[in-house]
Amino acid sequence: MPISYKETTQEFHLFNDDISYIFHVLPNGHLGNLYYGKRLNEEASYLRLREYGHRPLTSYVYEEEPAFSLQHTRQEYACYGTTDFALPAFEVEQADGSRLSHFVYQSHRILDGKSTISGLPQLHVKEAKEAQTLEVVLMDANSQTELTLSYTIFPDQPVISRHARFEQLGDQTIKLQRALSMTLDLPDKDYEWIHLDGAWGRERHLQVSPLHQGCQSIYSLKGASSSEHNPFLALKRPSADEHQGEVLGFSLIYSGNFLGQVDVTSYSQARVSLGIHPERFSWVLEKGGSFQTPEVVMVYSDQGLNGMSQAFHKVYREHLMRGFWAKQERPILLNNWEAMSFDFDEEGILNLARQAASVGVELFVMDDGWFGARNHERAGLGDWFVNLDKLPGGLTSIIKQVHGLGMKFGLWIEPEMVNKDSNLYREHPDWILHHPKHTQSHGRYQYTLDFSREEVYQNIHDQLHKLLAEHEIDYIKWDMNRYMTEVYSVAYPAERQGEIFHRYILNLYRLYDSLTTSFPHILFESCSSGGGRFDPGLLYYAPQTWTSDNTDAIERLKIQYGTSLVYPLISMGCHVSETPNQQVGRTTPLSTRGNVAFFGSFGYELDLSKCDQTELELIKEQIAFYKAHRSTFQFGTFTRLLSPFEGEDVAWQVLSPDGQQVAVGFYRRLVTANLGPIRLRLKGLEEKALYELDGTYYYGADLMHAGISIHNEAHIVEDKDFTSTLYILNRIQDAQ
Ligand code: DGJ
Repeated sequence: MPISYKETTQEFHLFNDDISYIFHVLPNGHLGNLYYGKRLNEEASYLRLREYGHRPLTSYVYEEEPAFSLQHTRQEYACYGTTDFALPAFEVEQADGSRLSHFVYQSHRILDGKSTISGLPQLHVKEAKEAQTLEVVLMDANSQTELTLSYTIFPDQPVISRHARFEQLGDQTIKLQRALSMTLDLPDKDYEWIHLDGAWGRERHLQVSPLHQGCQSIYSLKGASSSEHNPFLALKRPSADEHQGEVLGFSLIYSGNFLGQVDVTSYSQARVSLGIHPERFSWVLEKGGSFQTPEVVMVYSDQGLNGMSQAFHKVYREHLMRGFWAKQERPILLNNWEAMSFDFDEEGILNLARQAASVGVELFVMDDGWFGARNHERAGLGDWFVNLDKLPGGLTSIIKQVHGLGMKFGLWIEPEMVNKDSNLYREHPDWILHHPKHTQSHGRYQYTLDFSREEVYQNIHDQLHKLLAEHEIDYIKWDMNRYMTEVYSVAYPAERQGEIFHRYILNLYRLYDSLTTSFPHILFESCSSGGGRFDPGLLYYAPQTWTSDNTDAIERLKIQYGTSLVYPLISMGCHVSETPNQQVGRTTPLSTRGNVAFFGSFGYELDLSKCDQTELELIKEQIAFYKAHRSTFQFGTFTRLLSPFEGEDVAWQVLSPDGQQVAVGFYRRLVTANLGPIRLRLKGLEEKALYELDGTYYYGADLMHAGISIHNEAHIVEDKDFTSTLYILNRIQDAQ
């Protein structure tokens, strides 16, 4: 049983072979955390792990029990206003203006499997045996509000997911002013904290810094999870590294505004918080109303950062992505954006498609510019019908011809946006997020549709359903190219304006859900000016994401390395593009561009008519190679070996699901003159099994402990900038 309850001491223990998560009912009826970490032995009670104690200038709950203060107790879902002064998990504003609450344990239930969260992306199981769930119900007597905290544990993974749900049972109307998905109080602060930060074109760069007393946080208030911060944070012991040591990872399944925070108290405890950002958030609950927080996924690893990432990859591949494409090999695509931008016609598109088919591409994607009056950035968004001036045969003719070439056909859309130069805006100028008395800011000359409104949702829903029902489209790239400003909805009353950001995201999910349910064969790829909304929320609907608009292979090493902290290779769109690179002007060998892009869902983003014969031959070889090894790259176990954040040489490997093959990428960024030999030590092989590399046989132990020389004859990595090599090792004999 992975979840147990001890009636006498009111202790809950969620456990499997890897982890233990223990909490209990505190003397005042709230919940208090006792432990989270590596699996503990079964004990009669863990109450010895409580940390009560008298400290000066403390406020206490009871006169009779001067050691019990919430300030010094590790709470389970931290409450505001009664003896704890740190930032809480939630705040419930009541009719009399009070935000004091006192949620007391009522009951709990333990169920096999996992109950469905309505309207939000979430981890899911197919069969009850795949997980066990604990739901604890608490009640605030004054406001008559019920709070349910849910925890799901997976028997064979070091993973627990959590979320909270408020339901207003009483007559008074309440307003949630804060409703995070979790807080976790840890007994010490001896960690470094890790997050993935950046900007457009340099998304998800790895940041590691020591914890200090006070609050350290990451957040988005942009209406999307954003390129600036990813809804993920981790704590690692200072001695932990990629391969060993203790790491706690936290990832939020949400695509809008979020806050991730670590608050270190004067007494060196650390509170981790993650959820919807309380700033610009509130939610009115009338009698019978409920509010559901997004789900957080917590991973524990005692095998360093790679251990944490491998657990995230597995749980996201197996229990987050869903539908037909979740477990299908992804097609190799060619996208026309970097080749053509808005400047194309039917003949140009078909010429590129023919060239793509001739080198072995499997999916041809027509990007921005095919619809409405979209000949430039200033027009067309909102009008999701084909531009017949540009493409006189319509989509039907192009799709037929692309299918005739033996490829699938994909199309770009940006359904959340509108240009003022569009039929949609001319008919409904008040459908954008705006305040009637304020300026309307644009981003790329586009305005954000007020997706919180039902009629806006319905219009876009109907346009997209028509588009997809009338055409044989195999793939959709769903873009979103600006963040939200003037977030006010003329459709909602004053007291509900704090709901608009979240209502927008709920309807975004609803639209994704409706389209993926009606058109299950379509592969959706999400995008937001590259990787501006690369988060687990969208992976639930669209099982791959355009990782970054920055396609330079050398910059991509950092972006893909950072992204892999949380997200599996199959979820990352990785394409080879032209040189000099359009974003940074760098010239890199085609081989290196391929060797980097192989570690993801592979494709191209260039004008094949500009490639010479040698390049076309190499592209054919790359495509044939990826097809032959696709399942290793897309479903294998990924391990980071040498970090681009620490040195000029970068390396990573992926081990096929059956352990029979390992693909290793080694990349040299800026070269140093007269270097000595380098040996690359692989991971996760079987010590006594034999592996073949370039006709030579090595034991797993040899490859892992002595390593492979990157100067071996078949794989000379030149002492030149931006060179790389790829090793494919095949296991030829099982361990004896
Ligand atoms: C931003 C995306 O990231 C690009 O790949 C491309 O689709 C453009 N938008 C098109 O406007």
